[in-house]
Amino acid sequence: MSETQDTQSTPATPTVKTETHDPAVPEAWSAFMRQGWADRDGALPQSPVAAPAARRRSALAEALPGERLVLPGGGYKVRAYDTNYRFRADTAHAYFSGNQTSDAVLVVEPSGESVLYARPRSGRDTDEFFRDREYGALWAGERPSLLELSSSLGLECRHIDELPDRLAGSGKTRVLRDVDPRIDAAVPADDERDRELARIASELRLVKDDWELGELAAACDATTLGFEDSVRDWANVLTYGERWIEGTFFRRARAMGNDIGYDSIVGGGSHATTLHWIDNTGPITPGQLVLLDMGVEGHHLYTADVTRTLPVDGTFTPLQRDLYTLVFQAQEAGIAAVRPGAPFLAAHHAAMEVLAHGLGDLGLLPVSVEEALDPSSKVYSRWTLHGTSHMLGMDVHDCGAAAPEAYTQAQLAPGMVLTVEPGLYFQADDLLVPEELRGIGIRIEDDIVVTDDGNRNLSEALPRSPEAVETWMAELSGR
Ligand code: GLY
Ligand code: MN
Ligand code: MN
Repeated sequence: MSETQDTQSTPATPTVKTETHDPAVPEAWSAFMRQGWADRDGALPQSPVAAPAARRRSALAEALPGERLVLPGGGYKVRAYDTNYRFRADTAHAYFSGNQTSDAVLVVEPSGESVLYARPRSGRDTDEFFRDREYGALWAGERPSLLELSSSLGLECRHIDELPDRLAGSGKTRVLRDVDPRIDAAVPADDERDRELARIASELRLVKDDWELGELAAACDATTLGFEDSVRDWANVLTYGERWIEGTFFRRARAMGNDIGYDSIVGGGSHATTLHWIDNTGPITPGQLVLLDMGVEGHHLYTADVTRTLPVDGTFTPLQRDLYTLVFQAQEAGIAAVRPGAPFLAAHHAAMEVLAHGLGDLGLLPVSVEEALDPSSKVYSRWTLHGTSHMLGMDVHDCGAAAPEAYTQAQLAPGMVLTVEPGLYFQADDLLVPEELRGIGIRIEDDIVVTDDGNRNLSEALPRSPEAVETWMAELSGR
């Protein structure tokens, strides 16, 4: 990335991110550019995340009282040379502040008061607004002013340039690490205490409130539309292959949400046996299955995570139907195990019980089903590969820094949202399965919220049973 300061420009201009092919800016142009702009600053309506974020900050301050807690949102990351990835704020930062602008840092003070140190839009008194490719309003778009940010977030906001003095102040300071290298460098690490901050920031997100559940439901609804778009466009899918689906779903995600929550996995044929197949370079071939694992991330960053495995022809072959039905039954057993008080791993154990028996019935296991299911063996996992559930929220694999005692070894509670996503994967070169199974991958994944008396499937609008999948495909593709 080239960073230049044009010596011909007005000295008051801070270092601006320009490119070697940008034109020189003579003083006359610079001076003329700085004049004649309307003042458009003003308070904004409060964001729906302002009130919940305030409650979350209180909970965080209560968990670690009397300390300064620093949660950066991160900055731009280079994709290639001077081209950045689209900015997406760190999840914990956005959760506790509501802020989604780049380069901001949330500081919860020992008193419990919070300040967002933010990079606001540049004034029109320097060249930055029309020359800086990253922060200039005429290049990258208008950033909010401090007034706009503070009014919409219900949070005191100060200029990011004030942060170094604040961080240099005395007192215990914990930092959420590996989000912003500038902040990591500014505050000496205390690994144990910093990890504790990350853990608590994760654990406080485990239970979702009604507003969050609404956001997740909306993400699932948009995801349903994205799956439907793809099936409606089956002629192009057959012509162009996996990437047509990837692109079709991406359009829906960008049109209705913030983005995709993770790179879409579109696995035609044996690509379905690669768990995170995101190359999506393959064809969609009649007679085969295609696995679609895709999720829309909404405007407040809550994401869906949904998988369907579809017969390319619109109807399953008898073998495909048998295998699909086995995964479907495993998923049904897994979903049925989700209820308050049940262990987090109950869904996994229920689903694996079904799959292991199915694999035994297929004659694939080298030992009895009981032996295969024994925790010291698990040989059936050659064909199931992964866990059945993870928490879901603003991160697709949400709350990842939570302690095992609060997550994988804990009991489910109302408001938790987890996936149930068993799969069967027969690799194309697996000599231990009959040839007809090789290259088949099937996963079914739904987003399940724990309710007071059981669970609710947020992604139930997408059909799952083999019959319902076939009917749905026929309706959408007009066959
Ligand atoms: N989409 C990634 C996963 O299902 O965990
Ligand atoms: Mn998942
Ligand atoms: Mn998934």
